[in-house]
Amino acid sequence: EVENSLRPKKLEDYIGQYKAKEKLKIFIDAAKIRNEPLDHVLLYGPPGLGKTTLSNIIANELGVNIRITSGPAIERQGDLAAILTNLGENDVLFIDEIHRLNRSIEEILYPAMEDYALDIVIGKGPSAKSIRLDLAKFTLIGATTRAGLLTSPLRDRFGVICKLEMYNHEDLKNIVIRSATILDVAIEHLAAAEIARRSRGTPRIANRLLKRVRDFAQVKGNGMITVEMAKSALELLEIDPLGLDSVDRNILFTIVEKFNGGPVGLDTLAASTGEERNTIEDVYEPYLLQLGFIQRTPKGRVVTKLGYAHLGLPMEG
Ligand code: ADE
Repeated sequence: EVENSLRPKKLEDYIGQYKAKEKLKIFIDAAKIRNEPLDHVLLYGPPGLGKTTLSNIIANELGVNIRITSGPAIERQGDLAAILTNLGENDVLFIDEIHRLNRSIEEILYPAMEDYALDIVIGKGPSAKSIRLDLAKFTLIGATTRAGLLTSPLRDRFGVICKLEMYNHEDLKNIVIRSATILDVAIEHLAAAEIARRSRGTPRIANRLLKRVRDFAQVKGNGMITVEMAKSALELLEIDPLGLDSVDRNILFTIVEKFNGGPVGLDTLAASTGEERNTIEDVYEPYLLQLGFIQRTPKGRVVTKLGYAHLGLPMEG
């Protein structure tokens, strides 16, 4: 429950994502003034940026209940029908990893989103009949790592589309300080900045590193998180000064050493590193691209001059 308590409950306590927050605040206020459901919202961006947190906040600000599920968890049309028929007026339905919804289930969602209706087929063959059930008006919040993974009929049914960006160091530092306060641990500002710098733009990682650094400070020191403690702990965790971990470095080294710097296709890279294709694409690549250490080309991934420099390797022709 400590993990959950680190998650802000109100929009004003949510640090960063200023553009998304500004838009959402207006749409939430407008929906409340009209006593209508908020239009359906699509949140997309790399993992750990706060899509679930933001969905909980939206429901909380709207003063409605939230039902949380995920694309892979909904196996049958009936699973989704059961969820939809149990929603209250203006409630939020949050579907994480919505790009992983099965097509036949997605089709149930279209009339539900558009007309708040559930079409049920009764019987089989020529005598089959379709009946339409009315649903409570609701807000669907869909989350995905990449908007491009959604089918266009689904994407087109979202009235609000919000892209979540990686956090800057300042925002991450403030998140670390806020979390340390909630965890009741003393932390130097320079230590918070050090953790922030090594969190790959991601609050989930910042909070995870904070907890591990706290362990280190309690065992090796007096519990106070000093900058020296933070640096020693992060070194032990093999998190380098830019936040790259052993998997990031393995990806870069593999491209350089086995493929002469690239280009190398994603599937080949996955096979050579032992990481899953989707994990590379959703978890590792966004930050390496952001740092400018790799580039995507039509022929595959290449390590850039900056990437070589970070590895301390010369770039050969
Ligand atoms: N904890 C995790 N994400 C956060 C955020 N965006 N703002 C404040 N605290 C957080």
